[in-house]
Amino acid sequence: MLRVGVLVSGGGTNLQAIIDAVKSGKITNARLSLVVSNNPGAYALERARANDIDACCISPKDYETREDFHQALLKKLEAYRLDLIVLAGYLVKIPPEMVKAYPKRIINIHPSLIPSFCGVGYYGLKVHEAALSRGVKITGATVHYVDEGTDTGEIILQKAVAVEEGDTPEILQRRVMEQAEWIILPQAIQMIASQKDQIR
Ligand code: GRF
Repeated sequence: MLRVGVLVSGGGTNLQAIIDAVKSGKITNARLSLVVSNNPGAYALERARANDIDACCISPKDYETREDFHQALLKKLEAYRLDLIVLAGYLVKIPPEMVKAYPKRIINIHPSLIPSFCGVGYYGLKVHEAALSRGVKITGATVHYVDEGTDTGEIILQKAVAVEEGDTPEILQRRVMEQAEWIILPQAIQMIASQKDQIR
């Protein structure tokens, strides 16, 4: 049984997709053990609690130094003996010591087809604003392993989504979430949990 922790910062629709996939049996052999947010007001925490998943806020603002924050986060994660950590809309940089502690055991969902529109400064709506201003006809989402870089780790899954006439960043973001993110993130967790293709 894969013990999964999810790090969140916002609404938690990707977390909800994972919860629903476990409930529906799309994800087997995995258990959501912990949800951590850097944002005390994140609705994602409510979603976790509503599904009896341990949830807490560990915010950099509550610590004297960034190092203290990193240590508190790592300590929490270690206490839950996690096999996989999922970044689902988590907007805090992952400390190098965490990447080292969980080699090829941290995955992230990014709302574009990497290597397009990714890296420092590309998150949330900014990704879709960049795609629209470039005029791409196809965008999508990517699940990748997290390494020391930003959106640079090995790609696990991608799914393409059409850009439509008149799209605003908000409309495009929603379509990418519905048609790509909420599908490939649970799929990637299932692949890892069932150890298909030995991708770990
Ligand atoms: C989404 O745009 C997602 O692509 C990105 O974080 C944003 C919020 O996702 N990773 P969520 O609703 O909090 O899962």
